[in-house]
Amino acid sequence: MSAAPPDLPHPYVRPDRAGAVPLVGPVELKALLDGPDPPVVVDLRTAKERGFGHLPHDRSLPLAELPKRFEELPRDRPLVAYCQFGSEARRAVDFLRSRGFFLAAALEGGIDEYARLADPEIPRYGSDVRDGTLWLRQFPRPDTGCLAYLVGDPETAKAVVVDPGRDPSPYLRALADGGWQLVGIVETHTHADHLAGHSALHEKTDAPIFLGHRSPAQYPHRPLAEGDALPFGNDAIHVLETPGHTRDHLTLRVRDKIFTGDTLLIGACGRTDLGDGSPELLYESLTQKLLTLPDTTEVYPAHFGRRHALVERYCSTVGFERATNEALRQGSRAAFLAYMTEGWPPKPAEFDRIVAENLAL
Ligand SMILES: [Fe+2]
Repeated sequence: MSAAPPDLPHPYVRPDRAGAVPLVGPVELKALLDGPDPPVVVDLRTAKERGFGHLPHDRSLPLAELPKRFEELPRDRPLVAYCQFGSEARRAVDFLRSRGFFLAAALEGGIDEYARLADPEIPRYGSDVRDGTLWLRQFPRPDTGCLAYLVGDPETAKAVVVDPGRDPSPYLRALADGGWQLVGIVETHTHADHLAGHSALHEKTDAPIFLGHRSPAQYPHRPLAEGDALPFGNDAIHVLETPGHTRDHLTLRVRDKIFTGDTLLIGACGRTDLGDGSPELLYESLTQKLLTLPDTTEVYPAHFGRRHALVERYCSTVGFERATNEALRQGSRAAFLAYMTEGWPPKPAEFDRIVAENLAL
């Protein structure tokens, strides 16, 4: 089979812009990979970056080796090249098309955007991963709309799990797969909507459980307060107390990322009437703490999706939330307090029982 001539439209990519290579969006690529005739997917990153995670059924051809090895790739099949953020893949596809690979396209936004939009179970990492210094994986649970996290320092293989779900097996598998040593289990707050998994994970790993010092939990734990640092290898979780959704609520900062629990969700904030919360405290926590962080700070919430009347997204930034979040755009403290206290549906009957169970030994 011969390759398509250059003036035919590509079978599935977005229309070309002048001077641009064909791009495939993350959600489109996921659909293609799940479909009957998936494209050839080429990872252009270095072996070290690839070691942190890659797309399923792809092949590796680092960008630096592309000029010598491009003939190993098929010209007669749709091909999607990707890098971490998208720019190197565009260069590679530009090169490939100049060599007759007219079915080549680049993954828009790279594996980072793919993990953000299409498959959050693929680990995400910052551009500093070339120093091998931070690793982050999200664990979405579609049944509960909860998000848990594993964040680790690859150099020392020490990791922390944040807000684990009741079933410890996904975290145990990820820990074993990556050779991680779990040095802490952290709950951002006392959950009212789902049964928490700290005890089950503690029983399997013996890792200590860390909670906000205001937590009334009865099981053994180590309290965290404003300004505390919880080290994992060369990195650390830095603690911000952000009461409001609950009194014991913590926001956990690791470099430019914050794990916000239910203090700040994507497009919303967690209700303050489900446990011992306070809309006044939430307003202070948001305006005095979280919104003072740089706009580029990445926001990793504890919930997503329809079950919580939220979008199907897994990560945001402080700047995006500042600009678009309904709760943050009320315009005044009084309007925020009214927004947080009026018009919510009744508290689900089982929430008090779930809180009691989450605090028990
Ligand atoms: Fe919550």
